[in-house]
Amino acid sequence: MKALVVVASKHGSTLEMGRAIADVLGERGIEAVVLPPGKVTSLEGFDAVVLGSGVYSNKMLPTMTALAYRWGDQLTTRRVYLFCSGPLDASPQALVNLPLEARTLARQTGARSVRHFGGRVDSSELRPTERALMRMTGSRPGDYRDWPAVVAWAAEIADDALAA
Ligand SMILES: Cc1cc2nc3c(=O)[nH]c(=O)nc-3n(C[C@H](O)[C@H](O)[C@H](O)COP(=O)(O)O)c2cc1C
Repeated sequence: MKALVVVASKHGSTLEMGRAIADVLGERGIEAVVLPPGKVTSLEGFDAVVLGSGVYSNKMLPTMTALAYRWGDQLTTRRVYLFCSGPLDASPQALVNLPLEARTLARQTGARSVRHFGGRVDSSELRPTERALMRMTGSRPGDYRDWPAVVAWAAEIADDALAA
């Protein structure tokens, strides 16, 4: 069993989540490869595909949208799992509104499970325009990633993929 974990990440925090998911899959005997969307050249040989994207201005990153467009048909014949990492807020309410295009992608691919996790912003890594946007929206930098929830979801993915 092989899984492809495709992660669109601008500042690296979603990529770390993708790697953690791949580690859990690996512990369960599923060979997992982590790639950014632009490096995906084929889905051949992958039984399961985990798609993850950071959220910017309420959208997935454009590279993930492009991947969905390019590989949409092939994704429908695989077990797909989708996550977004965004909210800089640990409250459950913050995780309710998954970006519209992520919900559309989940529907189009028949995603078996969808999750919205908190994200991470380190202000020292931001460009001036990003910092200004953070100030304007009143967002508070920090690490809001819920690692136990990420690991638990990865275990659910492994259970589901292995049950195929
Ligand atoms: C300029 C900027 C805009 C953002 N806009 C959103 C947003 O609209 N919705 C959201 O949930 N998170 C937003 N975030 C938070 C990011 O989604 C979060 O930091 C995520 O973990 C980033 O992933 P990455 O490090 O993989 O790029 C924004 C962050 C920045 C810096």
